[in-house]
Amino acid sequence: MSASFRAFVVNKTGDSFTSGLKELTAADLPAGEVLIKVAYSSVNYKDGLASIPEGKIVRSYPFVPGVDLSGVVVESGDPRFKPGDEVLATSYEIGVSHYGGYSEYARVKADWVVPLPAGLTFKEAMALGTAGFTAALAVHQLEKNGLKPQNGPVLVTGASGGLGSIAISILSSLGYTVSASTGKSSEHDYLQKLGASDLLDRQETSAESNRPLEKERWAGSVDSVGGSTLAYLIRTTRYAGSIASCGNTGGPNFSTTVFPFILRGINLLGIESVNCPMELRRELWQHLASDYKPRHLLDTIAHEVSLEDLPQALANVLKGGTRGRTIVKVS
Ligand SMILES: NC(=O)c1ccc[n+]([C@@H]2O[C@H](COP(=O)([O-])OP(=O)(O)OC[C@H]3O[C@@H](n4cnc5c(N)ncnc54)[C@H](OP(=O)(O)O)[C@@H]3O)[C@@H](O)[C@H]2O)c1
Repeated sequence: MSASFRAFVVNKTGDSFTSGLKELTAADLPAGEVLIKVAYSSVNYKDGLASIPEGKIVRSYPFVPGVDLSGVVVESGDPRFKPGDEVLATSYEIGVSHYGGYSEYARVKADWVVPLPAGLTFKEAMALGTAGFTAALAVHQLEKNGLKPQNGPVLVTGASGGLGSIAISILSSLGYTVSASTGKSSEHDYLQKLGASDLLDRQETSAESNRPLEKERWAGSVDSVGGSTLAYLIRTTRYAGSIASCGNTGGPNFSTTVFPFILRGINLLGIESVNCPMELRRELWQHLASDYKPRHLLDTIAHEVSLEDLPQALANVLKGGTRGRTIVKVS
């Protein structure tokens, strides 16, 4: 492939930081066995961080962000893939230390590539993306630790965000009673449409407290906020319940005591999607294409932007201002 193609490139030299669309050629792409013509990518919080100089995500410059991509294999030096295969690739080093999905072509390692599961289009796969995959991983880990619909309500925090929206949708499809905590009163109708039956204000779920234990409320939770919200969840999780700790949009630090652990036997589960083993990764993508597939994925949860719209979309995700998921139409 000799022609040039478009990519969103960030660059930092000394005190100067630039970002914007540039023409690249295949020679600019990093090493990898599989060359993919990218159809769609998406916007995650991490991509927002990759687009600013102080984000501490990008390892070296110049760089093409975008932790998610879906598209068609154009060339493959690995027998597991051949030209014409429909694939997706998320996580690992993509969009962090290896050029990512904001590019009409991407070259990645074959070990990072997942065949597009039957039941998902390129666009749907990116409407899910890393946020959707992480929501699926959180639900999987909660159930592995004993969560069942009859155990009681499950709280999703950062509910209007990408991870939160998809977690609500998956949990409600699986028969759970879902509560949603949000800082956006304007999104109550949206969250109810996804399956939340009870809405909590973010102020309530992020309030500080000196009490080590409070009324037992939640059989489980999916937390993308962290900070004082995670401390709240630890104080209010029911006996033997579990918290899936996924993110830190509300801050990294929290203060707690051992009492919820030694008096209620609660479980704090760390959710890490980037290095999730390939076997489980493929299994969860199969779920996302079938029983976990959100009902209102394209008509309500996701909206589409172009490569030209990226600066605005990336700034929005950093402000916590996006609702649901942002898909990027690449080519
Ligand atoms: N563990 C992993 O492997 C993994 C994978 C993907 C993402 N993550 C992390 O998960 C988090 C969510 O990702 P995302 O893609 O869903 O991001 P997102 O779409 O930007 O959603 C984040 C949501 O958090 C809430 N929020 C924003 N600022 C907040 C604040 N200051 N205090 C409390 N809540 C705030 C908002 O929801 P409301 O307005 O509804 O409250 C916002 O919509 C991020 O920290 C991300 O880095 C982790």
